[in-house]
Amino acid sequence: MEKLKRSRTCGELNSAHLGQTVVLAGWVHRHRDLGGLIFVDLRDREGMTQVVFNPDYDAEPLEQAKSLRSEFVIAVRGVVQSRPDNMKNPDLATGEIEVAVNALEILNTAEVLPFVIDEAHTASEVLRLEYRYLDLRRPTVLEAFKLRHRVTNTIRNYMNDHGFMDVETPMLTRSTPEGARDYVVPSRTQRGRFYALPQSPQLFKQLLMVAGFEKYFQIVKCFRDEDLRADRQPEFTQLDIEMSFVEEEDVIALMEGLLCKLWREVLDQEIPVPFPRLTYLEAMDRFGTDRPDLRFGMELVDISSHCAQCGFQVFADAVGSGGVVKAINASGCGTFSRKQIDELTDLVKQSGAAGLAWAKPKSPEEWQSPIAKFLTPGERSAIHQALELKENDLALFVSGRSDIVNDSLGRLRIHLGRKLELADPSVFRFTWVTHFPLVEFDEEENRYAAVHHPFTAPLDEDLTYLESEPGKVRSRAYDVVLNGNEIGGGSIRNHRMDIQTRVFQALSIDGGEAEEKFGFLLKALTLGAPPHGGIALGLDRLSMLMAGKPSIRDVIAFPKTTTGMCPLTGAPASIDERQLKELGITPFSR
Ligand code: AMO
Repeated sequence: MEKLKRSRTCGELNSAHLGQTVVLAGWVHRHRDLGGLIFVDLRDREGMTQVVFNPDYDAEPLEQAKSLRSEFVIAVRGVVQSRPDNMKNPDLATGEIEVAVNALEILNTAEVLPFVIDEAHTASEVLRLEYRYLDLRRPTVLEAFKLRHRVTNTIRNYMNDHGFMDVETPMLTRSTPEGARDYVVPSRTQRGRFYALPQSPQLFKQLLMVAGFEKYFQIVKCFRDEDLRADRQPEFTQLDIEMSFVEEEDVIALMEGLLCKLWREVLDQEIPVPFPRLTYLEAMDRFGTDRPDLRFGMELVDISSHCAQCGFQVFADAVGSGGVVKAINASGCGTFSRKQIDELTDLVKQSGAAGLAWAKPKSPEEWQSPIAKFLTPGERSAIHQALELKENDLALFVSGRSDIVNDSLGRLRIHLGRKLELADPSVFRFTWVTHFPLVEFDEEENRYAAVHHPFTAPLDEDLTYLESEPGKVRSRAYDVVLNGNEIGGGSIRNHRMDIQTRVFQALSIDGGEAEEKFGFLLKALTLGAPPHGGIALGLDRLSMLMAGKPSIRDVIAFPKTTTGMCPLTGAPASIDERQLKELGITPFSR
């Protein structure tokens, strides 16, 4: 039988090609047998083309085509012809033409699929992941990967244009400090010893600065054993960057330039720079989170000063004991039922708040609210003004410790934003969050822990508090946030050993522990380390947001389920006893 060699893709033919003989290859997406006539929608990576088997063109391929089934892989040769006017499809790039087939080669057959490609979205996620290669055949799924490819390609060009070198760092390494659990790999040759897969290349990229590489980047896999969510995978990809002789502004400008270029080249959109900046405290105060979604308002308003003396004991006590009373104006939600408000109450309670107070104001004088009677007209009016309340609004109040109040109202704000569809999905609002605290107190461990990682530099002007009040020290860390998602984070590092030692002390990491865990980096700091800093962007999250997808699984070819399983390969799997023995591991008995 004649071997057909593809000459065109299924996405490119149009009226300009009429009369040309072409060879197409791909998958039988749909086929319709109209007795004497067979139509096939032939699909490849680039699109879909209708091919027609007609005895008037050639009887032999028509005979062969009768055996075609969905997802058979075929090649056809034929002539491009115009579709009859009533069969033109303006929604399809190739919708004006069809290919009149004069030769068919069946390259492979396919058994009945576990789900119809076009209807894969109705199959369970586990089944789709088990047959991920079929799920990936869907044109809409494929689109996200084409976009991701354009993203990485644009990144590589940009980094190269800015003088960055792509350097690979080890995957079999020691624990790297990003705060998650490690994935470990046992050593066969050194029994009882383990490699850790990197949570990020943090230490190596700093060493590359000590090496004098000056500008490093890498598109790199990172591994973190943490609870999975829609925006987290156990292995994910970072655009990892480190630069020497820089300060915050240099890293920020580089990233704004990159993100601008990405939006321009991949999405054909201009995004305004510079991005707005919020300090950590401001972000927490106004939005209750360090990754605020700036696409809508509904900001948290501190009304503590109006409640300090009020007759509502819960509020007055909160302020009296050093806490706060804050509120949001859920504008237009004055029609919410008791049940709806109860649901909101449950939500804030999940963040540890004691309760949720509410008010439906008609005017400053007239509030429908269980707490109205405890407030003086002056207090009500001040709160009314502070929240810019109008008729049909709903004011929601939480009081208590400021971290709990911020967290619960921040979540409530995001919840209402979603419910009321306040955030336009076609809008991209970036922001930098800066001046994070260097450390936070870890109640479980009963010691301070690094907010970013232990190599982040403290702000010069806060250094004096490092020993006396570490909780007060701000760091030189910055996060870049997009529509409520943390898409990247980085910092200026400690390049001087004396400061790094003081930071370790603040983290109660004693000399022995520091030496044991990061001795190699500390040594390097004493051997001519330049000032340096960097950042890492979460490439999966970035691609997910650019592709308008709800989960990073949509932009990862072979993702894991939320329980960390890969239904396709069956990983994680048990290994045989011989392998365990070789590794010096005692078989695990259930
Ligand atoms: P950080 O830990 O903030 O910084 O990580 C950088 C970015 O990586 C993404 N990210 C994730 N994406 C998917 N799944 C995960 N489990 C996951 N964890 C993190 C986020 C995040 O903003 N070494 C530092 C960077 C530096 O200081 O230069 C680091 O790794 O988008």
